[in-house]
Amino acid sequence: MDAGKTSLDIVRSVSDLRGKVRGWRAAGETVGLVPTMGALHDGHFSLVEASLTGTDRTCVTLFVNPKQFGEGEDFEVYPRDEATDAQALAARGAHLLFAPGVKDMYPEGFASSVSVPGIGDVLEGEFRPGFFTGVATVVTKLLLQALPDKAYFGEKDYQQLCVIRRMTADLDIPVEIVGCPIVRESDGLALSSRNAYLSADEREVAPALHQVLQETASRVSGGADPAAAGEDGAAALRQRGFAKVDYISVRDAETLAVPDGSDRPLRVLGAAWLGRTRLIDNIAIDC
Ligand code: PAF
Repeated sequence: MDAGKTSLDIVRSVSDLRGKVRGWRAAGETVGLVPTMGALHDGHFSLVEASLTGTDRTCVTLFVNPKQFGEGEDFEVYPRDEATDAQALAARGAHLLFAPGVKDMYPEGFASSVSVPGIGDVLEGEFRPGFFTGVATVVTKLLLQALPDKAYFGEKDYQQLCVIRRMTADLDIPVEIVGCPIVRESDGLALSSRNAYLSADEREVAPALHQVLQETASRVSGGADPAAAGEDGAAALRQRGFAKVDYISVRDAETLAVPDGSDRPLRVLGAAWLGRTRLIDNIAIDC
């Protein structure tokens, strides 16, 4: 459906969200959910497009989830502009924006959490303790609140996608999780709301993360040892101006375990700092 044929409703309570979804279901329509924290860019809009193509009705959620920010992280300053986001979603033909407040999601006395040990403890989980428990908790709530047919997540946050797939399978949540390709700037930098934090000089250096991941992937495709290729990638990234490299690591593309030499698909993932901005990215390895 194009923008001219739809209007974007905004709801803030779970009961209003469920009322809308109930109406669509009664009309025999399928529902797609696109969870976001706002500050929407073309990466998010590609998820909205995928949902508009794959389902009859698209609900975007906008909630800056305090539970996935650690101490000293950017919760307070995370970019928030609901009016601009809502306008952009309306123009693209999304049907519903669910934008709850913190008290709607976590009312007084809220005590439960969802954790996904193992896959949620490595890589990002090591550097951002508690992050995936925060993500898994809020995504479980959003999926149960809306009960969509499909939910759309970007491969930019590849480990998040793997954690959410594991969690929905483990908990028998009846929603199909759809992963969508990373959207990049023309110089290769993966789109992210946090790119807005980069200074002009940092922005020049930033595409090196994607380049190093490409080089690492092609070395591993050519037979290099995955662990050694990851270490060399981290060194190359430091040389190209990244102040600190958290990891460049080749992993099993589904479990994120260290490769065991079998012919399972692999992925190389990286996280590194430019000044106060932490960038993450990943790519598939052709084997
Ligand atoms: O990827 C994000 O923007 C967030 O982690 C998500 C999935 C919306 C949960 O808060």
